[in-house]
Amino acid sequence: MKLRPGLVPGGVCTAILVLFLACGIPAARGQEIAATPPMGWNSWNHYGCKVSQAIVREQARAMATNGMKAAGYEYVNIDDCWQGKRDANGVIHPNSRFPDMKALGDYIHSLGLKFGIYSSPGPKTCAGYAGSYQHEKQDAETYASWGVDYLKYDWCSARQVYKPSEMPAVYKKMHEALVATRRPIVYSLCQYGMDRVWRWGASVGGNLWRTTDDIQDNYTRMAFIGFGQEGLGKFAGPGHWNDPDMLEVGNGHMKPDEYLTHMSLWCLLSAPLISGNDLTTMSPETLAILTNPEVVAVDQDPAGTEAHRVSEEGPLQVWVKPLADGGKAVGLFNQGESTMPVTVHLSDIGLNGPVSIRDLWARKDLGSFNGSYTAQVPRHGVVLLKIK
Ligand code: GLA
Repeated sequence: MKLRPGLVPGGVCTAILVLFLACGIPAARGQEIAATPPMGWNSWNHYGCKVSQAIVREQARAMATNGMKAAGYEYVNIDDCWQGKRDANGVIHPNSRFPDMKALGDYIHSLGLKFGIYSSPGPKTCAGYAGSYQHEKQDAETYASWGVDYLKYDWCSARQVYKPSEMPAVYKKMHEALVATRRPIVYSLCQYGMDRVWRWGASVGGNLWRTTDDIQDNYTRMAFIGFGQEGLGKFAGPGHWNDPDMLEVGNGHMKPDEYLTHMSLWCLLSAPLISGNDLTTMSPETLAILTNPEVVAVDQDPAGTEAHRVSEEGPLQVWVKPLADGGKAVGLFNQGESTMPVTVHLSDIGLNGPVSIRDLWARKDLGSFNGSYTAQVPRHGVVLLKIK
């Protein structure tokens, strides 16, 4: 946090600031480290348990050099399956696919990127590796010693040792262990949206929380999750975000228009943009979807307001996200099986004409409009607009 000296009227302010930081208030900590939705890469969607140190290094190098870092992608996150055994003192060690976690963290940092890891509050992770149950403080310290900047904490087998009602306290316990390391670590809650986590995720220190079960690389599942987020926006904002799960863009089982829908929806929803494809072999088209600066800017808008649905007519939906500069990002979506016209009425999004409209994927000004705007939207596709 940087303060401009001219704005600090003296000792009173400094004392309040010190108190504020010492209390470790979750929202304040969150705002420093996830003021906009986190952006990065995670191993799970593409590699599952076949992840290794070599793969993570290659992905990090790709992210640093292919334009993703420049577009704002920052976290390089190992998901499940890195864990080995605990030693006699209970300290967790990585398995043989990760010979040196500290060196891996150093390498990621040397690229100007940040390092993320994964665990579970239960005895085992979802893939059956060692979880952090009864080792929370020790694991947080180990992660900090490796230079970890992001922890995804996945409920998994915790259901065998805790009652559902204990979930907030269990998540808070790891938050407190992370704060105690004095290292800023983004805290990603993963319990699939149980117990309306959006209501309490921020209060237990979560910077993001999964709102649903796992995404898959197909249109039906992606659309079910993405279009199902209506109503959750009021629970998110700078420092604490709804997480409809990681991106599948580029993993190969959706059509280009479907990946455009995926990316557009996630950006409108102020979702964390955690890519989940192989960054070393992706096509220029995939890279262009992940890095379009005007689309990423919608996700990273400093106001942090989530989009909401303003209209739904059969397979056609219009979503709007108010932006910090007074403009609106508007998604015209077609879930149908053929191209159809989709209309946004300016009165529905709180604007009076004339407005100027820009197509964010085409990166083209469309002109000045009154009353409404209609676009032809392809099957499973989207037209993403900025209206001012
Ligand atoms: C759960 C999570 C996924 C992934 C796997 C790993 O299913 O929701 O995102 O982390 O566990 O086992």
